[in-house]
Amino acid sequence: MSNQRVVEVVEDLERLMLDFVRKHHITHAEYRAATDLIVAEVKAGEESLLLDVFLEAEATDVENESNSGSTLAIEGSFYLPGAPEVTGPAATMPHRPDEAGDALIFRGTVSGADGKPLAGAELDIWHADAEGLYSNIHPGIPDWNLRGRIKTDADGRFAVRTIVPPPYEIPKDGPTGIVLNALGRHFFRPAHIHLKLRHDGYVEHTSQLYFEGDEYLDNDVANAVRDGLVLRIESGEDAELAQRFGIAGTFNTATYDFVLVEEK
Ligand SMILES: [Fe+2]
Repeated sequence: MSNQRVVEVVEDLERLMLDFVRKHHITHAEYRAATDLIVAEVKAGEESLLLDVFLEAEATDVENESNSGSTLAIEGSFYLPGAPEVTGPAATMPHRPDEAGDALIFRGTVSGADGKPLAGAELDIWHADAEGLYSNIHPGIPDWNLRGRIKTDADGRFAVRTIVPPPYEIPKDGPTGIVLNALGRHFFRPAHIHLKLRHDGYVEHTSQLYFEGDEYLDNDVANAVRDGLVLRIESGEDAELAQRFGIAGTFNTATYDFVLVEEK
């Protein structure tokens, strides 16, 4: 039995691609090169990366058109479920004793669209280290480093200590790199923190937050930066936070308030 949505979407894609082959006079050798590239992407484990770079932000934009919560963002290729829970008033992302990078307190609130604070909302956070590398993906990094799940307090607030991640280059030595090189594009993404937020009765929310002043905000290889997702890093002293997290002197803070959408 046919699936009506699949028939509608795939048959339209088929028409578009047939027109595309004719429009560009695609030769058989070019067609075979394209199929070989797809096989190479799968063998290299990069099929998600290739699609994420070219298409994911557009799919997210479509969802944002009817989204009444905070702006949604791409998930990217490096999410893994099951990160350790980090708890307590001085919640700190799992890190190496000598973790490089400037300390950052990332804080904010989670509420529903009606403004009601959401206690016990989970923030599943992952980001790159100071070298632009992800634990459990790139070798030589302890498992779950800079991956952690925290929960909001009774007032819907959260605060977690981590580091300011850097811009990084996506993998460029595999088949995705061949495509981007042939297009003459660079491989950089602006610095960012990835998040997934969850709370019973609310739609899971995927976010990605960037930082003001980053040279790749307007020139992201994944074209994924959107208004409302760019944080300002404030550097200064905050006696309450300093005491809570045991930090001396000035340190960085960045704040974001999430709004989740109730499930229908
Ligand atoms: Fe990332």
